[in-house]
Amino acid sequence: MKLLVTGGAGYVGSVVASQLVEAGHETVVLDNLSKGHRAALPDGARPVEGDLLDEGFVRETLAEGFDGVLHFAALSLVGESVEQPEIYYRNNVCGTLNLLEAMGEAGTGRLVFSSTAAVYGEPEEVPIRESAATLPTNPYGSSKLAVDRLIGAVCGARGLAATSLRYFNVAGAGGRFGEDHHPETHLIPLVLKAAAEGSSVKIFGTDYPTRDGTAVRDYIHVEDLGRAHLLALEAAGPGEHSVYNLGNGAGFSVREVVEAARRVTGKSIDAVEAPRRAGDPPALVASSQKIQADLGWKPEKPELETMISDAWAWMRDHPNGYE
Ligand code: UFG
Repeated sequence: MKLLVTGGAGYVGSVVASQLVEAGHETVVLDNLSKGHRAALPDGARPVEGDLLDEGFVRETLAEGFDGVLHFAALSLVGESVEQPEIYYRNNVCGTLNLLEAMGEAGTGRLVFSSTAAVYGEPEEVPIRESAATLPTNPYGSSKLAVDRLIGAVCGARGLAATSLRYFNVAGAGGRFGEDHHPETHLIPLVLKAAAEGSSVKIFGTDYPTRDGTAVRDYIHVEDLGRAHLLALEAAGPGEHSVYNLGNGAGFSVREVVEAARRVTGKSIDAVEAPRRAGDPPALVASSQKIQADLGWKPEKPELETMISDAWAWMRDHPNGYE
């Protein structure tokens, strides 16, 4: 297929773009390089630099004709979204609206969208199924939920075939592609940074109603997550919008992540207890039964230590990230 990957120079987008090239798809990467990295463009993919908020550019890009779009480009920091909700809605909702309109004009019939566990807010039941109530607790989650709903409506109205993948906590690296965010706010890269530099990492909250008082998350290897996108390309028929959660179904607490990182790196890693971070739910664990049953997806790297050791290897190969 000929595929357009928005945000294909970012962490998850670059891994998926490289998997698409490897699978023999003609792959075009659209990225504004605000968060993505030029060096994260996979060999064999054609880059197009520009912004989804630029309507004319988006229309022109889609007009060359694609079989499908994988849409990763978005702002994705929960804390930042609380401080700057307008920017989150503009980027995530208006950017997607431009993309959907251009796809409609060009007759592009297939979409895979990067949704998030953040749409569920503080779930009543864990593991979380796709049928759980969607009550996001921050503008990042709300903006992604608004897009999910918009996509559903466009599927109904125009016969688009779309799949939303709701990611839980992505970790690890895929070949020469790894995690390099500025600023970095995610637990695993920060724990590994502390290991590399001999500095400390903060544990945000030790009074959660969990087994050791720290927050529990479901970590999924970025390569496993990537493979789900290739399956998702064919998951929906025209007019259908499929939604799948993507995690391992196992949760690890912040303390367990730090412990695992100590084993992987052989470093002592200083962890300092700190107050809760605003907006963090106590536990987010996915039920991925639906995608396993419908699409035959199965994680190949479910172990937390594998994810941490792949991230650690990437970090040691790229001490300054992509710079
Ligand atoms: N944490 C720490 N110390 C740190 C960083 C994080 O204790 O230095 C804790 C957080 O408070 C949280 C857990 O580690 O309890 C995981 O935090 P991350 O920042 O790594 O990930 P989040 O769970 O906050 O967010 C991620 C994605 C979001 C997505 C969410 C859905 O970044 O985009 O998963 O599960 F919405």
